[in-house]
Amino acid sequence: MVLVPGKVLLQKAQRGGYAVGAFNTNNLEITKAIIAAAVETDSPVFLQLSSGALKYGGFELAGLALAFAKKVPVPVAVHLDHGPSFELARECVNFGFSSVMIDGSALPFAQNVSLTKRVVTVAHIKGVSVEAELGQLKGREDDVFAAKHTYTEPLAAAKFVRLTNVGSLAVAIGTSHGAYKFKGAQKIDLGLLREISEVVSIPLVLHGASSVHSSLVAAANRYGAKISNAKGVPESQIKKAIKLGVCKVNEDTDLRLAFTAAVRKFLAENPSAYDPREILSPATEAMKEVIIRRIKVLGSDGKA
Ligand code: G3H
Ligand code: 13P
Ligand code: ZN
Repeated sequence: MVLVPGKVLLQKAQRGGYAVGAFNTNNLEITKAIIAAAVETDSPVFLQLSSGALKYGGFELAGLALAFAKKVPVPVAVHLDHGPSFELARECVNFGFSSVMIDGSALPFAQNVSLTKRVVTVAHIKGVSVEAELGQLKGREDDVFAAKHTYTEPLAAAKFVRLTNVGSLAVAIGTSHGAYKFKGAQKIDLGLLREISEVVSIPLVLHGASSVHSSLVAAANRYGAKISNAKGVPESQIKKAIKLGVCKVNEDTDLRLAFTAAVRKFLAENPSAYDPREILSPATEAMKEVIIRRIKVLGSDGKA
C-alpha cells in the first residue's frame, strides 16, 4: 500500500494491544524476505537499516527498501536503526525514510535530550517519526560498546519524553544485541518495564529481542558453524512485554542465523552450485519463515 510514518503503525498497535516487528535489512534477499512475510501475514512492518547497513549497501539499499515499501499492499515504515548522529538522521529524513531512531543512549542525559530534540525538530517538519533510547544495552551497537547494561530509570524516562517530544522510546530492561544475551536464566526485567509504562505513555521499543531459536543454531552447527552457548529472549517474555507497553520489537540476529544455516546447508548439499540466486533463495525462504513466526508472536498478523 504505502510508506507510512512509524508513529501511525505504533499508535494503532498501542490501541490494539499488539506490537509491530522491526526487521533489519542489509541486502536484497533480507528485504524480500521481510516484505514477503508481511504480505503473506497481512501485517504492518518496520523495514530498518542501521548505519552499518547504509555503509555496506549505500543509500541505494535504502532506495530499494523505499521502492518495496511503496508498492506492497501492507503499511511499511522505512526506519533508521540506531542513528548515531544528527547528520545521518537528517540525511535519512531528507532521503525519504518515514521513521528514524536517534541513539544518544551513550551520552549523559542532558546531551541525549538535546540531540534527540534537534532530530525531532527536523523530522517532524517532514512528518517523520522519531524513536530515541534511554538506558544502554550491553554489547556493541556499531561503534559504541557498552560493557554492562544500564537499565532505564522510569522517572528519567518520563522526564526525557516530556523534554524531547519523541514518539517512541527504546528501553533497556536486560536484553542485548546478538546471539549471546544471557549467561544464566533467560529473563528480562518485566517489573521494571511495568514501572516505566506506568509513567511513560508513548509506545515503548524492545531492542535485542531475537529469540535465538535453538533449532536455527543447531541447523547452522550441523553444517559447520561453531556457535555455542547462544541464548535469546523467550517468546513468552516478549508476549508479556507487549502487555506492558512494548509496541515495536526489533529482530535481526534470528534472520542472520536463519540465513547462515540455510546457505551452509544448501552449499553442503549442492557442492556443484555456483549461481547466487540458487544459493540465496533457500536463505530468503528461511528468513521469511522466521519473520512470519515473529509476526504471529507479536500479534500483528491481519492488522495491515
Ligand atoms: O543494532 C543492532 C542491529 O542488529 C544492527 O546491527 O549495526 O551490525 O547492522 P549492525
Ligand atoms: P537482535 O540482535 O536481538 O536481533 O536485536 C536487533 C536490534 O535490536 C536491532 O536494533
Ligand atoms: Zn537495537
